[in-house]
Amino acid sequence: MNSSYLNLPLNQIFLGDCLALLSQLPNECVDLVISSPPYNLGKEYEAKKALDNYLAEQTLVLQECSRILKKTGSIFWQVGAYSNQGSLIPLDIRFFPILESCGLIPRNRIIWVRQHGLHAQNKFSCRHETILWFTKSPKYTFNLDAIRIPQKYQNKKYYKGNKKGKLSCNPKGKNPGDIWLFRNVKHNHEEQTIHPCQFPEDLVARIILATTNSNDIIFDPYLGSGTVAVVSKNYKRYFIGSEIEEKYYDIALRRLEEKPDTKNYFPNLKTLRNYIDKTGEDIEKFRFDMQTGNKATERKKAKIFPEEYHRQELENRLLYEESAFSANLRGEEIPIDNNLNGSHSKKKKVNRNQSSDTNFKQLEIEL
Ligand SMILES: C[S@@+](CC[C@H](N)C(=O)[O-])C[C@H]1O[C@@H](n2cnc3c(N)ncnc32)[C@H](O)[C@@H]1O
Repeated sequence: MNSSYLNLPLNQIFLGDCLALLSQLPNECVDLVISSPPYNLGKEYEAKKALDNYLAEQTLVLQECSRILKKTGSIFWQVGAYSNQGSLIPLDIRFFPILESCGLIPRNRIIWVRQHGLHAQNKFSCRHETILWFTKSPKYTFNLDAIRIPQKYQNKKYYKGNKKGKLSCNPKGKNPGDIWLFRNVKHNHEEQTIHPCQFPEDLVARIILATTNSNDIIFDPYLGSGTVAVVSKNYKRYFIGSEIEEKYYDIALRRLEEKPDTKNYFPNLKTLRNYIDKTGEDIEKFRFDMQTGNKATERKKAKIFPEEYHRQELENRLLYEESAFSANLRGEEIPIDNNLNGSHSKKKKVNRNQSSDTNFKQLEIEL
């Protein structure tokens, strides 16, 4: 092990305030900080504060995170929106200057699209959050080959010039871009624990694989259910983190232990399935915290959809919704969504006068 690692609490997580842990860490000791702080929404794990007080506290945390970051390191800070009495402030707008004031350099503003969520009545429903990526210096790690995704047109070739006949796109795949669609960890997600807002493991994996190498050190000040620690461990990186709520800290420990507790419970279905795959034990002997049915389903019977599937599904649905809206504006027949209600069969044509849930009306405006 690198001697500079010796005095660090590697692969340990702490129960308590992140600022207390940060104050014990030396300068420039971690390669990546990745976190999702409380959004000051008054969720069960946070007391809602005046926005300025919240941001002042977050500034202290980010100054400390930036201090412990190595010169080649990155910070990924994931936030949503703060809402107060109907006014909505996208928090990344407020965090951007704070991160800049720490001397960090912006690299990307990633849009994390949510397919589902609350339906607003007096504004557009919120369907995205953001992840800000900043680096400490112009020299930083970015392993694009580790995170490429399939090209849309994989066999496209140059049709003229001296490269004629050769593939015109990178056969290793393309850059995933800055619009991400990892499914929210909610109902029916095998990673779901009792924590209300977990990171999906694959989203964290993309960041870790792109911006760190094996044996690098990853820090999460707001660990929650421990997703960053779990993924760091899976990809042979070291982790350090803190969580202030004991019940979430316990979940993080149980996810990392990968074993049943004394009552034969696991923190989520994924940890249970991993254990069954590894030991060959009978799944019926165990339960997971969020389980409702009698028996957990085995992994081989589960449907697993990659991010690309959700991206395509969302793209199709948005294209459909916008063409339906435009057709209605022009008094044309509204096209059919073949995937309505998740089915792939043809549905009866929707007539613009029949559409019940859209409540389309042409406004007559006097000019
Ligand atoms: C948005 S959640 C993070 C969820 C996490 N990314 C996951 O995958 O489970 C924020 C977490 O920060 C914790 N927290 C709030 N204030 C804290 C503090 N001062 N120090 C450490 N943890 C804190 C909350 O209890 C909550 O679990």
